[in-house]
Amino acid sequence: MSIKLANRLASVRPSPTLTLNAKARALAAQGADVVSFAAGEPDFDTPAHIKDAAKVALDEGFTKYTPTGGIPELKAAIIEKLRHDNRLEYAPAQILAAVGAKHALFNIFQALLSPGDEVIVFAPYWVSYPDMVRLADGVPVVVQTDPKAGWVPNPDDVRRALTPRTRAVVLNSPSNPSGAVIPAKALEGIAEAVRDHDCLLVSDDIYERLLYVPEGFQNIANVAPDLIGRTVVVNGFSKGFAMTGWRLGYAAGPKELIAGMQMIQDQQTSNPTSFVQKAAIAALKGPQEPVEQMVAEFRKRRDMMVAGLNRIDGVSCATPQGAFYCFVDVTGLIGRGYKGQPVTDSMRVSEILLEDFLVAAVPGTPFGAEGFIRFSFATSPAKIEKGIARIAEFASQLA
Ligand SMILES: Cc1ncc(COP(=O)(O)O)c(C=O)c1O
Repeated sequence: MSIKLANRLASVRPSPTLTLNAKARALAAQGADVVSFAAGEPDFDTPAHIKDAAKVALDEGFTKYTPTGGIPELKAAIIEKLRHDNRLEYAPAQILAAVGAKHALFNIFQALLSPGDEVIVFAPYWVSYPDMVRLADGVPVVVQTDPKAGWVPNPDDVRRALTPRTRAVVLNSPSNPSGAVIPAKALEGIAEAVRDHDCLLVSDDIYERLLYVPEGFQNIANVAPDLIGRTVVVNGFSKGFAMTGWRLGYAAGPKELIAGMQMIQDQQTSNPTSFVQKAAIAALKGPQEPVEQMVAEFRKRRDMMVAGLNRIDGVSCATPQGAFYCFVDVTGLIGRGYKGQPVTDSMRVSEILLEDFLVAAVPGTPFGAEGFIRFSFATSPAKIEKGIARIAEFASQLA
């Protein structure tokens, strides 16, 4: 007997980044010397004081259920972080801790959307947004951004995309995959575009700490304080504290939305892992030097990768302002001949790079940007050097 799955699954695709990572891992397991630029996580270990806090919590028996949205002490630490780092004020009823930022985002859409409701996402987008919206019976409305404008959303395009069904606009700065940071002026323009429209602003700030611009971090609630009542800030511990596997994130926003998300979470995961919450408090309150050292190292690797890629004929790479990805224009490679066949698109470039040159990187198409490939610099300088030499070798073989 074959199992008939729910209709909603027909609308989602397997995560292309996870698929590519799996293929690269399979090759590596066979002994191939794969250089992976596919990672979506820091290659640094979680700082020791954070691990220690988890160990203490375990030893003290902090292993039982907690309140669904997080222990009061964690909520207080998150509120203090948002006040200190982001100049935003929240009450405990406006905070929900979840099993990663991904989980928080998923539950925002579950709590917000009715069938046919629209959510504006900017391309290139993090691959999960459209599928999360679809899984909540919503409709992702993709607004293109322009590489010549540094992938910064244009407020006029937002205005054009708004309809009576628009329930939310998703902002992600610094962006995965483009590394773009939305400047304050553009945030103001977006705020102006949505001001008379009754929709939620979802600010995915997960790469907040991984920032290479002198202005420092700003989100839409900073530049448009009048919209705080309909902004939900999403953040977490994965990227900034090298805690991807720990699975902890949070949302801060309107209390009605947070209450709705909590109702869903009550029936879904209940609380995020008890002792991980204790570790997260240590991350927020403890020394920030490990984060700063990691960011300084990422900046060096970024510069190295940008310079190396730009030396390759047919490849062009803008300098990312945040996160740990170079989003690279490979249109100069597409259409050329490789082993007697034309290189058709960025997916084909990625395939050849992995199969023939043992370099893993994610094609732009699933991010909504054909002609580009995402190279993560969350890997060692030696690997970056080796990988770039291999990409240059591939480019030199094109007819
Ligand atoms: C833009 C963006 N938002 C959210 C997440 C999810 O982070 P977490 O590990 O906290 O679920 C990621 C992870 O890749 C991401 O790139």
